[in-house]
Amino acid sequence: MRFDVLTLFPEMFPGYLGQSLLKLAIQRGIVETGLHNIRDWSRDKHHAVDDRPFGGGPGMLLKPEPVVECVEEVRSRCSPAGRLILLTPQGRRFDQRLAEEFALSQRLMLLCGRYEGFDQRVMDLLAPEEVSVGDYVLNGGEVAAMVIIDAVVRLIPGVLGDEQSSVEDSFSRGNRMLEHAQYTRPREYRGRSVPEVLLSGDHEQIARWREASRTERTESRRSDLLSAGQADSKTQAEPKT
Ligand code: ADE
Repeated sequence: MRFDVLTLFPEMFPGYLGQSLLKLAIQRGIVETGLHNIRDWSRDKHHAVDDRPFGGGPGMLLKPEPVVECVEEVRSRCSPAGRLILLTPQGRRFDQRLAEEFALSQRLMLLCGRYEGFDQRVMDLLAPEEVSVGDYVLNGGEVAAMVIIDAVVRLIPGVLGDEQSSVEDSFSRGNRMLEHAQYTRPREYRGRSVPEVLLSGDHEQIARWREASRTERTESRRSDLLSAGQADSKTQAEPKT
């Protein structure tokens, strides 16, 4: 799978891409990345990429020409064209389901904004999928792009050592429970002991304990997940008319 990131700050990425799982996936050829500086497509002699909004208002907007031309050229350099994702707090909320959908794609192009946003013609001409990583405003789309890459990459077959591990992740397909509590050594730390059952070797009991832990956590922290699950199964059970 290939990720192309279009940004004014490509230097934010190599540190992130060079770590752990992602580094290994790139070394093994499972993941390919491309970093593209939108400023390289500026026609301006000062390499300007932003300008003041018509009609007044605070801040600066990304100009349409460098953004549109950068996307078009990067898109044409390799095939398939893939999905074009524009990171913005106004987009569809990113979640595990969307990560699973993106992981089926052969290529994602992630377009990161800065300043007060993009000139509307960027959206009109390129028709990107607008995606938000949450209801808060970041300084730009770069960290949001890293969030998406991070969530998607672990779903690509071969990236995780143990294929099961992403299936059991909280929020993964059909899994509407948070993960159960986990412990490692030492058996006791500052007066807190690992639950006896986890040391018992009784796999049935352990599975039951973990199920109870998942239920308790989900009920107390994210009861909305349980009601969403019920709503889903109700929709599936109802025949379409
Ligand atoms: N750019 C700024 N804030 C963002 C957000 N919440 N999600 C995606 N891109 C953004």
